[in-house]
Amino acid sequence: MNISPLKIGDECAVRNVAEMSWKYAYKNIYTDEYIDYWINKYYALDNIKNDIEKSINNKILFYGLFDNNLLTGFIEIDKINKIILRFYLMPDYIKKCYGTKLLKTAEEIIRNEKIEKLILYVNKLNSMAISFYKKHGFEITDEDNEDYLMEKYYK
Ligand SMILES: CC(C)(COP(=O)(O)OP(=O)(O)OC[C@H]1O[C@@H](n2cnc3c(N)ncnc32)[C@H](O)[C@@H]1OP(=O)(O)O)[C@@H](O)C(=O)NCCC(=O)NCCS
Repeated sequence: MNISPLKIGDECAVRNVAEMSWKYAYKNIYTDEYIDYWINKYYALDNIKNDIEKSINNKILFYGLFDNNLLTGFIEIDKINKIILRFYLMPDYIKKCYGTKLLKTAEEIIRNEKIEKLILYVNKLNSMAISFYKKHGFEITDEDNEDYLMEKYYK
């Protein structure tokens, strides 16, 4: 397994991982039709390409987890707004500590760049992700409709 920045050309693989991960994580929360609608909207290939370009300009951290050359997960952090935007693994790679490795890699970069805080929004019914984030030091500080706001400070 290897963790490295995503590159132009990875857009389809990102979308594929997101679709599988959403259908796994949100299977008891949203219908497949609802997920397909939002994947088409949020993961339009041009949007992903745009974010990869921003990561080349260092405004975004966008790292992938690769099994040989296969993308199996990714984390995306907006460094300007200090928010974890997307964090998804393929179902077969969940609960095998790869999420921890991806988060720790990203956090090392965040700390080195003196970013003092990260926030994220997580669906209130996504108990697996909520317990993962709590284990890694994030705390629920607010709520917004169906999401919790979680925050972590880096010193
Ligand atoms: C949230 C997510 C990124 C976390 O990554 P992950 O790789 O599953 O998390 P880890 O394996 O590092 O840790 C999760 C748990 O699995 C446990 N675990 C790890 N390897 C294990 C193994 N071989 N056997 C059993 N448990 C194991 C960890 O100890 C941890 O358990 P704990 O929380 O009870 O202490 C991932 O689960 C995911 O992609 N979920 C679906 C998408 C999603 O919800 N994303 C977040 C949107 S906000």
